Amino acid sequence: EVKKIVPFRFANNTALCLSPEFILPEEKRPCLCDVSSMHSVPIIDLKGYDECEHGLVQKISEVSQQWGMFQVINHGVSPDLCRGVLAALLEFFQLPPEERSIFFTKDHSEPVKILNYYFNGSDQKKVAMWSETFTHPWHPTEDFKHYLPTNPPQYRDVFAAYAKEAGTLMNRLLSLMSQGLGLEEGSLVRRLGANPNFYSHANYYPPCPEPELTMGLNEHNDITALTILQLNGVPGLQVEYDGKWVPVDPVPDAFVIIVADQIQVLSNGRYKSPAHRAVTNRWLSRLSLAMFYAPNDEVVIGPMEELTDEELPPIYRNYRHKEYMEEFYRQQGKRRRVKEAFE
Ligand code: SIN
Ligand code: FE2
Repeated sequence: EVKKIVPFRFANNTALCLSPEFILPEEKRPCLCDVSSMHSVPIIDLKGYDECEHGLVQKISEVSQQWGMFQVINHGVSPDLCRGVLAALLEFFQLPPEERSIFFTKDHSEPVKILNYYFNGSDQKKVAMWSETFTHPWHPTEDFKHYLPTNPPQYRDVFAAYAKEAGTLMNRLLSLMSQGLGLEEGSLVRRLGANPNFYSHANYYPPCPEPELTMGLNEHNDITALTILQLNGVPGLQVEYDGKWVPVDPVPDAFVIIVADQIQVLSNGRYKSPAHRAVTNRWLSRLSLAMFYAPNDEVVIGPMEELTDEELPPIYRNYRHKEYMEEFYRQQGKRRRVKEAFE
């Protein structure tokens, strides 16, 4: 029997001051001095290249190398499903804690659960992040649907329908990214291996009384292969570019695409997995939904042979994806990037 724990987060949500467990050490707080609006994350119209698929491949390749993050519009996922899935999630997050408590657990291996993230300071002091994350698999639907919430009642169906369309987009992006590396369209999917791990993170950030003192999600790189992120229109996501934090201006009906660590490694560093973070705000609830594509634990990841030669030797070693995950858990909260351990 797994011990279920009672949620404490946001219990004092109506307070005017932030409760102390959320207050970061000064040097870890979001600071306007580190933020730059000189650049903005590229926006790609996936229907804008109908006559010229080659042009689209070039564009995706260029932004994956420069930024590792971009927004896509006309991506083929129905706007009604996009809105529907966020609405269902918002209802879920706003249920009374007693109703959500079945999903609170400390057991990492449970596939469907609410996660609470912490920043681990060098003095081993944990600081709570101003967010709550609901995670579960998104494919294959038949295997997990019966574990999903029954409240709100439309959750299961709307999520499954959304996941199906997001999965189609995921494959298309992986194909374009493969071609952008000069490879055949199925290359990345093939190298990411059989039985990938498809899981989602829905992140909820209620209005925060003192956004200057805390973080919604601390800076991190996605450790998976690729992320499709939907935002609810509220700013807060920032990406590291050129040594600064660049705020992502959410485009209506767009997705944010994030190149994650495993694609950086497979591409031998050509595509970049960028650091990103989420800051909070005083007035509006933020909601984001990340759909991840990750290799199975046993798959061996390393720079693709086609991309390396004497002039471009592999900059990472081969490892089983499981080793990568273990390194990630070992390093939780430290600034050093997990990838560097595999150089
Ligand atoms: C994430 O990095 O998983 C979420 C970022 C966001 O909430 O915008
Ligand atoms: Fe992320």
